[in-house]
Amino acid sequence: MPVISGSSCREIALSLAKEMGMHFIPAETRRFPDGEGYLKTPAQDFESIRSEPAVIVSSTFPDNGIIQTMMMLASIADIQRGDLSNLKKEGVQEMEDVGRKIILAVPYYGYARQDKRFSAGEVVAAGVIASHLSNACDGIVILDIHEPKVLENIEHPIRCVTAVPEIANWLREEVNPDFILSPDKGAVERARNVAELIDVPYSYLEKKRIDAHTIEHSPKDLDVSGKVVAIVDDMISTGGTICRASDALRRQGAVEVHAACTHGLFTSGALTRLAEHVDGIHSSDSLANPRAVISGAPALARGVQDLIGIL
Ligand code: R5P
Repeated sequence: MPVISGSSCREIALSLAKEMGMHFIPAETRRFPDGEGYLKTPAQDFESIRSEPAVIVSSTFPDNGIIQTMMMLASIADIQRGDLSNLKKEGVQEMEDVGRKIILAVPYYGYARQDKRFSAGEVVAAGVIASHLSNACDGIVILDIHEPKVLENIEHPIRCVTAVPEIANWLREEVNPDFILSPDKGAVERARNVAELIDVPYSYLEKKRIDAHTIEHSPKDLDVSGKVVAIVDDMISTGGTICRASDALRRQGAVEVHAACTHGLFTSGALTRLAEHVDGIHSSDSLANPRAVISGAPALARGVQDLIGIL
C-alpha cells in the first residue's frame, strides 16, 4: 500500500510506511515566488496508487499544511478516478475509474484548539476543517487531537489515536517518574492513562488562562515531595503552561520535573524558557522539533489498520 506525504510530514510518513511495511511516495513540492505551493504526485507511482488504498500523511499546520493536504487529496483522487488529462499531453490521458480509496493520517491537527464558539460570529475552525477534509477522503486518522468531541458531527469515519503507550514507555525507560501530572483538569485522562501504564500515581492542577501568554495555577496539595514528576500534555506551544506547572511542583518539593507531550510546537522561544524550568523535555515526532524522541508512527499505524478494515 502506498504512503504519500508532502514536504512537512516526510519523516513521520517514512516511519509509518516502515511500521506498516508500505511503499513510501514523496510528493513533489515547491513554492512559487509569491509563496503559493505547488504539488505533483510522481507518475511512476500512479499504478500503485490505483491498485491499493492510499494513505496520505499530512498535518493541518501551519496554514499552508491545510492547502497541501487538500492538494494531495485532490491529486490522489484524480489518479484513482483515472483523470490524468493534462495540457502537455503527457502519458495516458484517461484511465478506468478504480474508485476512491484514500485514508488521511494527520500527525498534528492544527486548529484543534478552536473547538468552541465563545462569541457569536466566531468559527469552530477545528470542525470546519474536519468537515472539508472528510469529504475529500474515505477516512481520517488523527493523532492526539486536543478535543475529539469537535469531530462528533462528522459523518465520515474518523479514528482518534493516541501516542500515550509510546510516551509512557519512553518515560518509564528514560525518566522513571514517581508521579504523573496533568497541567489542567481537561487533560487528566491522558495523565491517568500514562500513569496507569507506568504504575505510578497521578493528579492535575487547576489552571486558569489569563491570556495567550499568561497562565495561573491554583495551589493544590500534591504528594510530590522528593519525587521525580513528569508533566504530560497533548501539546506544548509557548511553554507557559508547563513552566507554571513546574514552578507549582517545585514549590511543593518535587526534585526533578520533566515535560512530555505529543505535539511539540515550541513557539516564541519556548525551548529556552522551558530549559529554565524543567529537567527534560520529551516530545513525539508529530511535528519536527529538536525534542522529538518518541515515535508517533505506531499510533497512526493502529488507526490506519483499523480504517483499512472498513474500506
Ligand atoms: C491547552 O489546553 C493545551 O492542552 C495545552 O496545555 C496548551 O495549549 C499549551 O500551550 P502553552 O505551551 O502555550 O502554554
